[in-house]
Amino acid sequence: MCPPRSFFIETLGCQMNVYDSELLRRRFQSYGFRPAPSADRADVILVNACSIRKRAEARAWARLSQYAGLKGDNGHPLVVLCGCVASRVVKGLGEGEVSGVDVVAGCGSYDHLVAILDAQLGVRRGPNGPLVLADSPTATYHEMPAAGEAPLRAFVSISRGCDSHCAYCVVPSARGPHRSRPLRQIIDEVAALATGGTQEVTLLGQNVNIYRDGAAGFCEVLRAVNEIPSIARIRFTSPHPRDMTGEVLRTMAACERVCEHLHLPLQSGSDPVLEAMGRGYTTSDYRGVVDEARRILPGVAISTDLMVGFPGETDDRFEASLRFVEEMAFDAAFTFKYSPRPGTAASRLPGQVPEEVKGARLERLLRVQNRATDASNRRLVGQRADVLVEGLDRRKPSLLTGRTRTNRLVSFEGPDSLVGTLQTVRIESVGRWIAFGRRVEEGAAGGGERP
Ligand code: 5AD
Ligand code: SF4
Repeated sequence: MCPPRSFFIETLGCQMNVYDSELLRRRFQSYGFRPAPSADRADVILVNACSIRKRAEARAWARLSQYAGLKGDNGHPLVVLCGCVASRVVKGLGEGEVSGVDVVAGCGSYDHLVAILDAQLGVRRGPNGPLVLADSPTATYHEMPAAGEAPLRAFVSISRGCDSHCAYCVVPSARGPHRSRPLRQIIDEVAALATGGTQEVTLLGQNVNIYRDGAAGFCEVLRAVNEIPSIARIRFTSPHPRDMTGEVLRTMAACERVCEHLHLPLQSGSDPVLEAMGRGYTTSDYRGVVDEARRILPGVAISTDLMVGFPGETDDRFEASLRFVEEMAFDAAFTFKYSPRPGTAASRLPGQVPEEVKGARLERLLRVQNRATDASNRRLVGQRADVLVEGLDRRKPSLLTGRTRTNRLVSFEGPDSLVGTLQTVRIESVGRWIAFGRRVEEGAAGGGERP
């Protein structure tokens, strides 16, 4: 009998790619493969790669060429390109050298991927370039194979693909149109995770608000997951501001396990830029959602994604965007320079902004947002927060770290045995990315209150 074959997956990109890597990991294992401890000891190496910005894609190609260098005379290990970059290669939009890649497996090819790799392992690589798998724009992967162990925090996909047409974005072409996953399968997956010990789930979709399964919309998903015993926390990402409703906010408030955290990607605070992006809302609409969220969900943390240098972003429009970002007082933000992606509508727009202008704008945006982040952090000092303890502090292993319901990282002193539990922590000081606190022992006066 041959020894079991082994696989190694490197994941780049967003939570959806992390989730897909988990799906692939479980499929490999149910096929009899075992995980390799490192890439150089694997029979198959997969790079699950992101193409959202040029730099992300460049990183993927660099990893692939490094892995191709591990090949012996028999052509093994097999090097497989997966994820959004693979889907773009299938469409002729890849921006790298495929010569070291054996198999190109786009996001819609995972149903047969493991069986095909198993068969390919017995074959010498031909001279005709990589094997390119059919990339179905409608693949769904509703069934998640069971896992032995479950992580403390897990992702669960509720939909795939995207029906929006944001002018800058590769996702609709890489991942196909929006498809909702049946509610029953979402519940079964969360229930299995809960049984295995998972305490926090993050529901994933490119636009969770347009979820639909028969009569059930996103609110029904939240309510159903909220009923699953032993799941302590529910998060989701991302809602689209255009499709966000008061009903979703009220459902969040009514479901005690749904955390008071909303990641609401704004992209730009300039109306003409939002229009050119095709986002489908104005700054006034966005302000309406934020005001309503803050009214319905007291203490909610609102984070966002922001982009500078979209084509047509003049100095005046950038200034307007900056003012709007300041007004929104986001608790946190991910900030990006616009990256033109081949095949997207924005890459063909006039008014492309020079790199050095983008760089200078990003710096100014960061300064404004850092002030808001710091102000939001300072408000935490003196408060008590429920912290789900994730593990030891990487920088100082004598400390524990975890997150509040509002997704702030907190570090505090305590024994390892608290990992995986919920603790009440009084926040004593804050840095930009992490707060420091002291555990409130059970039975101490007022212990266990939420801020
Ligand atoms: N350039 C820069 N940032 C982008 N994003 C998406 N596409 C691009 C692009 N072409 C950002 C958006 C999105 C986040 C996931 O990545 O802000 O919300
Ligand atoms: Fe995720 Fe988009 Fe990157 Fe694909 S391109 S991995 S969907 S961020």
